Amino acid sequence: MIIALNNKSNLDKYEFLDYQERINRIDSKEQIIVCPTFLNIGNYTIRKFSLGAQNVSSTEEGAHTGEVSAKALKSFGVDYCIVGHSERRQNQKESNNEINKKIKQLMAQDIIPILCIGETKEERDNNHYKEIIEEEIKTAILSVPNYDTIIIAYEPIWSIGTGVIPTNEQIEEVFSLIKSILPNNKILYGGSANEKNIDQLKKIKNNDGFLLGGLSLKPAELSIFLNKLI
Ligand code: 13P
Repeated sequence: MIIALNNKSNLDKYEFLDYQERINRIDSKEQIIVCPTFLNIGNYTIRKFSLGAQNVSSTEEGAHTGEVSAKALKSFGVDYCIVGHSERRQNQKESNNEINKKIKQLMAQDIIPILCIGETKEERDNNHYKEIIEEEIKTAILSVPNYDTIIIAYEPIWSIGTGVIPTNEQIEEVFSLIKSILPNNKILYGGSANEKNIDQLKKIKNNDGFLLGGLSLKPAELSIFLNKLI
């Protein structure tokens, strides 16, 4: 399974160095992708896990103050990059079109995008979630060659950081919708996944792994989570 660790904007330099030492002790057969902050990407030294970023510029390098290009990420050994996280869609007003541009930038540098999709509580309650998810996927892959390699992370917004998880049936319904558009792509689940609910979540059908937020910051609990996957 793929286990992607989204540190979000947590861990300063010293905290990250300590964290890195602790997660380096984790012994797991899963494919672990660590996604630190941009700055901590420069401090990353773990060889047995893959390195991911949490964002990328939608343009090539150039006169774009404050942006980090896909080329620069690649030069630091980044092989994966989260795009379209709901926190960026909501707080930075990232649009599906911009996400599409980011995916193209990443793929031109052989960085595998981890595309986050998912609905708000309101969209689910109004039964609009399928259209929202379809639109998020279809616009993101527009004129993208070889889009089969993109990893899709289904993260219902109402589940992120709330401790509330969907039923496996709800997740499987969305996974089927994703598969109907992208039959060959890997799919992850993300949203309040932890060492307590993994016994339930590991039964999700056709699941290729998890995208972890809060749990990514707790090496001891993360170890328990990984052991329960065996
Ligand atoms: P939590 O695991 O903290 O709910 O966060 C999920 C997430 O947003 C990962 O990208």
